[in-house]
Amino acid sequence: MILGILKESHGENRVAMLPGEVSAAIKLGIEVIVEENAGGRAFAFDSDFVSVGASTGDRKKVIEKSDLLISVNPPVDDDITSFRKGQVICCVLNPVENREWIEKARIQGLTLLALDLVPRTTRAQSLDILSSMATVTGYRAVIHAASLLPRFFPMFMSAAGTIKPAKVLILGAGVAGLQALAISRKLGATVEVFDVRSAVKEEVKSLGGKFIEVEGAVEDTSAGGYAVEQTEEFKKKQQTMIQEHATTADVIIATAQIPGKKAPLLILKETVMKMKPGSVIIDTAASTGGNCELTQNGKIIEINGVTIVGKSDYPSDMPSDASKMFGSNIINLLKIIVDRESKLILNRDDEITSGIMAVSDGQYISARIKQLLNIQ
Ligand code: NAI
Repeated sequence: MILGILKESHGENRVAMLPGEVSAAIKLGIEVIVEENAGGRAFAFDSDFVSVGASTGDRKKVIEKSDLLISVNPPVDDDITSFRKGQVICCVLNPVENREWIEKARIQGLTLLALDLVPRTTRAQSLDILSSMATVTGYRAVIHAASLLPRFFPMFMSAAGTIKPAKVLILGAGVAGLQALAISRKLGATVEVFDVRSAVKEEVKSLGGKFIEVEGAVEDTSAGGYAVEQTEEFKKKQQTMIQEHATTADVIIATAQIPGKKAPLLILKETVMKMKPGSVIIDTAASTGGNCELTQNGKIIEINGVTIVGKSDYPSDMPSDASKMFGSNIINLLKIIVDRESKLILNRDDEITSGIMAVSDGQYISARIKQLLNIQ
């Protein structure tokens, strides 16, 4: 099998695989071709890929030669007819945002493997790219907040007096939120956490955070561990309770998401107006509408002395380790979809393969993509 690594478009610094992981793929008997300068922004140069046994070529050649193409983001800027029928593309598909491109790919007869549809099961954990990238997001969001805050995170006792630790409020205790909690604690802050899933209460406590429970949350066991939309009554109650805690916070890290839906609105404008001047909100849900009413995606703004960062692309700001994790997850996927003769075998009886197979043979396959795109 020939595996092609595509260069990302402008604004994305990651690459789907670094030379270390390319070397692991070659050990599996896979031939690898890398688009010229695909890894430059992640500090992996063409000569590094060649030194581990890959070849390089221009985009046209990579697309022509490869059986399986990998990228971080879907190659939406290419003419869909540059890909041939039966060719397999594996990337983070972002189905709701890219539904038109997915439909074009289906008609073209491509097979799309969506890394964001990996089932959240123990067996699939080693290829869970969403968790890897959320880990980067949680870490980087806290570091960013600490750099913008005009105060220390830890408590300081010095000859100049005692400085109290910063208070961090985390909204959403998924992978990113829990990582943000762990890093905030390592930096010495006190941390409070809100989530609608009571299952995370123990995890929050074990990481040294205080879980704030709002009674009456809707939890749906059929949602695969994900949160679901809440009632209007609950939303109001939660917004009021968040306001109470936000007014004493120095930093808010907002990570709450509902897959396939707009992010829940948790911080109202009036809450921002009551926050301490100098405090910082990092809204990592910015690309899906934001958890804060005033968030502007891709922008840092200051309102009433509160800095609001609307940023959902932290993994691109840490391209070396983010690409390393991304590539390792793909290697773990290859171990499932490539046989001993190094042939690509997409066995639909395997729950991971069928779970990530968005389209193939002109059909929508994964149950989750049908649910997300409302396809019968
Ligand atoms: P996510 O990115 O979809 O959402 C982030 C967090 O926001 C979630 O914890 C969610 O409950 C919370 N949230 C949504 N609406 C909210 C609201 N109104 N107020 C407060 N919080 C709200 O979540 P992520 O990180 O993708 O994790 C989703 C689930 O998948 C979790 O149950 C996690 O434990 C599970 N998981 C399982 C894995 C495995 O078994 N292999 C791997 C990774 C995650």
